[in-house]
Amino acid sequence: MTFKYGIFLPITIPGCASGVICDITLAEFWNPNRFPPNTLNNLFKITVKKDRIYASPRTEIEAFQFDDKVADVFEDMIGRSVPGYRMMLEMIGVIARERVLPDTQCYDLGCSLGAATLSMRHHLPHANCKIIAVDNAAAMTRRCLANIQADKSPTPVEVRCEDILETPIDNASMVVMNFTLMFIEPELRLALLRKIYQGLNPQGVLILSEKMKEEERTSQDILTSLYHGFKRIRGYSDLEISQKRSALENVLIPESSEAHMERLKQSGFKQRSIWFKCFGFTSIIAVK
Ligand SMILES: C[S@@+](CC[C@H](N)C(=O)[O-])C[C@H]1O[C@@H](n2cnc3c(N)ncnc32)[C@H](O)[C@@H]1O
Repeated sequence: MTFKYGIFLPITIPGCASGVICDITLAEFWNPNRFPPNTLNNLFKITVKKDRIYASPRTEIEAFQFDDKVADVFEDMIGRSVPGYRMMLEMIGVIARERVLPDTQCYDLGCSLGAATLSMRHHLPHANCKIIAVDNAAAMTRRCLANIQADKSPTPVEVRCEDILETPIDNASMVVMNFTLMFIEPELRLALLRKIYQGLNPQGVLILSEKMKEEERTSQDILTSLYHGFKRIRGYSDLEISQKRSALENVLIPESSEAHMERLKQSGFKQRSIWFKCFGFTSIIAVK
């Protein structure tokens, strides 16, 4: 357990969501124009369990799994591993506000602890919408449900523990896959995107965030070394970086942005734009 910014407030705030912990300075904290109202709730939950999973040397590295050990520290793990993660979550809220229509559904496929679900929920412009949050790891959906129940926003959320390949998509104005497609077998990705396209309403959007690789080897090497520098700055040791990398081999299968763009086009999406990119971590908005 670590305390952020050296302050610990031993209180619980009724209705406090545990979705997003903001990386802020105290000066920013006191600036009333800096954050939307919900953020104040999140600021009170300033304890995060630190990810130390790969800190000790291992003789054998098992394939990475989204089990209880990972789910317990996931908020810290993803926050320290994905450049721009919190900003992307904030922008998912912005996109929800701009694009979600009344009487439609939003999907968070591979929802983990529900961070993107909460971001949509806090910014939906209409009361009569529903969010469906799906993950096939029970360790994640249990915690996601608790996070949703602790959040008092009115939009109904259905949390489903199932394979997103089995999830029917219907009457959708927004579908989010925030770092999930890279865990799906490559040969199943096109069918999944086609299903999402079919379930979106006209002008509906897919937010597809992925770790992407460069087609050219030297460009990839530069980005990989910068990414490792980012992880070091976020407190991961070289041992943690290399053991986690081995664990993710053959589990997280990245593709190039060109391959993703081509597949989105094949699935029917008429507009496809990259709206975030940092050291290979990329997010695309695709419009039906
Ligand atoms: C990197 S995490 C996603 C992070 C999350 N979207 C967020 O923004 O915080 C990937 C998630 O996808 C889930 N996942 C992977 N394959 C899946 C599948 N076939 N069906 C459902 N969930 C899946 C994993 O259990 C994991 O929770």
